[in-house]
Amino acid sequence: MSDVPIHVPVLADEVVTHFGGLNDQVIVDCTVGLGGHAALLLEHNPAMRVIGLDVDEDNLATAGERLAGYGERVRLVRANFADLDEALVGVGVSQVGGVLADLGVSSSQLADSERGLSFEVDGPLDMRLDRRGGRTAADLVNGLAEGALADLLYVQSQERQSRRIARRICQVRRQGRLNSTVMLARLVASAVGQDPASRRGRIHPATRTFMALRMAVNGETAALGRLLEQAPRRLSTGGRVGIVSFHSVEDRMVKEDFRTRSRAGEYRLLTKKPIVAGAEEKSENPRSRSAKLRVAELLLGP
Ligand SMILES: C[S@@+](CC[C@H](N)C(=O)[O-])C[C@H]1O[C@@H](n2cnc3c(N)ncnc32)[C@H](O)[C@@H]1O
Repeated sequence: MSDVPIHVPVLADEVVTHFGGLNDQVIVDCTVGLGGHAALLLEHNPAMRVIGLDVDEDNLATAGERLAGYGERVRLVRANFADLDEALVGVGVSQVGGVLADLGVSSSQLADSERGLSFEVDGPLDMRLDRRGGRTAADLVNGLAEGALADLLYVQSQERQSRRIARRICQVRRQGRLNSTVMLARLVASAVGQDPASRRGRIHPATRTFMALRMAVNGETAALGRLLEQAPRRLSTGGRVGIVSFHSVEDRMVKEDFRTRSRAGEYRLLTKKPIVAGAEEKSENPRSRSAKLRVAELLLGP
């Protein structure tokens, strides 16, 4: 068995198909992760070069190992895709043929208890993908006022029980700082009166709370907004932007951005409806169940 952490790239065939016409160009994989999509693109397109960005130093190191065989065709940069312009300037590239982003977190990050991303493995309430600084989930859970916490849960992940959950968090934290993922998951389950052990096919009651906190800690919607704004400036004419999202708020942002730009004659939509995984992929890779891929082509370069 290999020591490289496992993460099965979602909608892999569809990503390869949509970026396949860009064989002799540079693609920026904004979320290189463990290098899954990047490896497939490099394998299928022998003249393609990939600039891979990620905020997570561990994933970048894994991608580096995995993609080492492609030599100078790969450049990896520790950067937030919100700073796409700056990251590309840093490697001396102004225009690219493709911008790809596969949002969210990798299976390896979810499984890493130290990151505190999962309610299934106990760990500190951290949730930062970029551990160089910034607020942790514990800072939010212990520091925000009840109303602000409820708003965060509702706005980020449409948690309908946000008020009840925030109230319970505030009651419990009076007895001591909330620091553990499993403790938070239990508390959320008790706040909404659901026993996770008997949920029969429904999602764990803490799923939305964890997603909302992760999104807030990492500023995920703001980063996506900045990526969508910079992508057309960085693409050359005929270049493609493809975004895989896992969440209705993100998918809506991508849909609206692409639609507005297509009405303005800037983009041509290559996916009128988002591409979703087929039954086989969904059964083999549960992460793919909520994945949506939208792709657009730049009609007029800068
Ligand atoms: C779903 S994984 C990508 C997996 C990758 N496509 C693969 O096949 O291995 C998402 C990755 O994006 C990274 N990430 C999330 N938000 C980011 C951001 N704003 N800027 C750069 N990387 C980010 C995460 O650290 C994670 O490694």
